[in-house]
Amino acid sequence: MDRIKIVGGQQLNGTIPISGAKNAALPLMIASLLTDDRLSLKNVPNLADVNLLARILRNHGVDLAVDGKRSGPAPYLGETFHLTARDIVDTTAPYEMVSRMRASFWVLGPLIARMRKARVSLPGGCAIGTRPVDMHLSGLRALGAEIDIDEGYVIAKAPNGLVGNRITFPKVSVGATHNVLLAAALAKGETLIENAAREPEIGDVAECLVKMGAQIDGIGTSTLRIQGRDRLEGAVHSVVPDRIETGTFAFAVAATGGEVLLEGARAEHLQAALDALKRTGASVEAVPEGIRVSRQGGEITPVTVETQPFPGFPTDLQAQMMALVTRANGTSVISETIFENRFMHVQELARLGADIQLHGDTATITGVKALRGAPVMATDLRASVSLVIAGLMAEGETLINRVYHLDRGFERLEEKLSRCGAIITRVSEG
Ligand code: UD1
Repeated sequence: MDRIKIVGGQQLNGTIPISGAKNAALPLMIASLLTDDRLSLKNVPNLADVNLLARILRNHGVDLAVDGKRSGPAPYLGETFHLTARDIVDTTAPYEMVSRMRASFWVLGPLIARMRKARVSLPGGCAIGTRPVDMHLSGLRALGAEIDIDEGYVIAKAPNGLVGNRITFPKVSVGATHNVLLAAALAKGETLIENAAREPEIGDVAECLVKMGAQIDGIGTSTLRIQGRDRLEGAVHSVVPDRIETGTFAFAVAATGGEVLLEGARAEHLQAALDALKRTGASVEAVPEGIRVSRQGGEITPVTVETQPFPGFPTDLQAQMMALVTRANGTSVISETIFENRFMHVQELARLGADIQLHGDTATITGVKALRGAPVMATDLRASVSLVIAGLMAEGETLINRVYHLDRGFERLEEKLSRCGAIITRVSEG
């Protein structure tokens, strides 16, 4: 099993190209189920989650061809996926696959919309909380789907097709918004989604659906008005840059010191995180090529942060922020309001010498003078990258176990960091 070895204490200097967003690439790939035409997606990151979803879609009958990476001066442009769901041969998404990646549950809406039936495994447990799917199901029921749960599977049918309706989500959910939005694009008439998630990845999917022929008003707002179509067409779409990868590297630079250009990043997609980063004392500047982050000496100022749906501070950057302020010159407070169990990095950061007290959904972090490298365990995707940030700051060697969590969501992490001066290597063992 691969491990990552980091020798801490090096500044980061240079340029890091930002990949396409995992959380946009996944629903965009799923959108291919809505049409028998070809959907071409550019800037798709090469990640374990993307590859797993490709297998799931192939199982439904989607034909996937991949163009190679472009060579030349910009080698990080990602891959181009051509997805064609001419014939959907299987409307079942099996437990063995869905249980390994929650986002694959989002095939449910498109399968019901196009095939009028679907059998999709419930996603099951997850390390960061219970993560129910009640709003996905109530949203699809509102569009006319008949849904039963049997032997761990959602069995759905809509013999006469889905029909648009007004749906008001009781709580903001990225996944439920994706599922209903995708289904509504092929439903009869108008669907109104109120209290929709506003994450940039939702906007990216909505824009792709518009290219495919749907009419969608309110993109970027919490009210989406979708005029469904009998048939959607193929399209060419480029995946939005990954704001979580952007934030992760920005926090890493603030942690180690130095100056890095995050190439292709969009500041407006993570303004709350960048504002919090500035409060720690880092300098952050939006430039035409992306975002420039630097910290030249000086101490890390403690902060108070609470995670919120977009445009608030993202839960997917909470662990990274915590790693940064372990070395602040005072006490920081970080509250997690989205997922109830998203503090598994705390015990691992403590192994490096961090001083963190947990009370319910709030962590109180008292800055220490130095972290010391140690062997640690990656527990989930975002938690594991917080250990990378901590390892880059720590004195001596940090060995991160179970890095398959990192490979789910970060493309060429070691390469991007080592090009900027980090001492980070992957140790492969048989
Ligand atoms: C997505 C992101 C994940 C991010 C999260 C919150 C992807 C692939 N994943 O996950 O990286 O951390 O948004 O920004 O894009 N909930 C319910 N009932 C439901 C659905 C959700 O109660 O039917 C709750 C969840 O338990 C959670 C909250 O709503 O407490 C938000 O979850 P949601 O936005 O749905 O997260 P995901 O879509 O799973």
